[in-house]
Amino acid sequence: MTTQTTREKKPRNGIFSDQQNPHPDLLSVVRHHRAHPWRKPCPEHTLAAFDVLQNTLREQPRSLVLDSFCGTGMSTALLAHHYPDSWVVGIDQSAHRLAKHQKAPCNNYLLLRAEAESFWGCLAEANIQLRAHWMLYPNPWPKASQLKRRVHGHGAFPLLAKLGGSLELRTNWDIFAAEFAQAAGEIGLWGACEAFTPKPALSLFEKKYQERGHTLWRFRGEFSR
Ligand SMILES: C[S@@+](CC[C@H](N)C(=O)[O-])C[C@H]1O[C@@H](n2cnc3c(N)ncnc32)[C@H](O)[C@@H]1O
Repeated sequence: MTTQTTREKKPRNGIFSDQQNPHPDLLSVVRHHRAHPWRKPCPEHTLAAFDVLQNTLREQPRSLVLDSFCGTGMSTALLAHHYPDSWVVGIDQSAHRLAKHQKAPCNNYLLLRAEAESFWGCLAEANIQLRAHWMLYPNPWPKASQLKRRVHGHGAFPLLAKLGGSLELRTNWDIFAAEFAQAAGEIGLWGACEAFTPKPALSLFEKKYQERGHTLWRFRGEFSR
């Protein structure tokens, strides 16, 4: 591998990484994934989750907001307040995390157990477009060797372009945010990164990082049509 990495010394915002800069292989990895579409059998639970969504949209058609990697769904419920005329759908692969959800009074959100990448594939195949896509604190996979496990280094990343809409990613790792912004440009997602202070926290991880005094970063962008 052609990385210019050093051994991890001290944490940045609590994150130990052997990367001090965006990964040098990032753009070649994204371009490769764009040229070689990702294919993987869809897990049963994700197919079932997608069925629930399709039935919901059939019964009550509304625009769709996706909260990928939603954890316990705190953000999903808060986003449902923010988008009262949309369906807000939180997806997470962990049944354990989803079971900890504290129900909110609004009735325009769903929490579904699904593998995010396969769920995006189902949406793309069904030509379902998003109004907005939120990704709050996806796992950083901080070792340089883990680039392809990060959301923007994953083979499914180019699928996001088929879903359209706006996209907001939040992270407590500045390098992750910078990489995401670079990778986004490769798939027609135009936007910018900035440090920000959430008022109030939108998710449990955001709350935890804020309490620890971490600097938080967000990328906000829009797919060009
Ligand atoms: C760091 S937590 C963030 C949770 C929440 N967004 C928050 O900010 O509190 C990352 C979440 O991503 C979920 N996750 C990781 N990989 C996933 C995947 N491929 N598909 C769906 N969920 C995934 C984990 O189960 C976990 O709940």
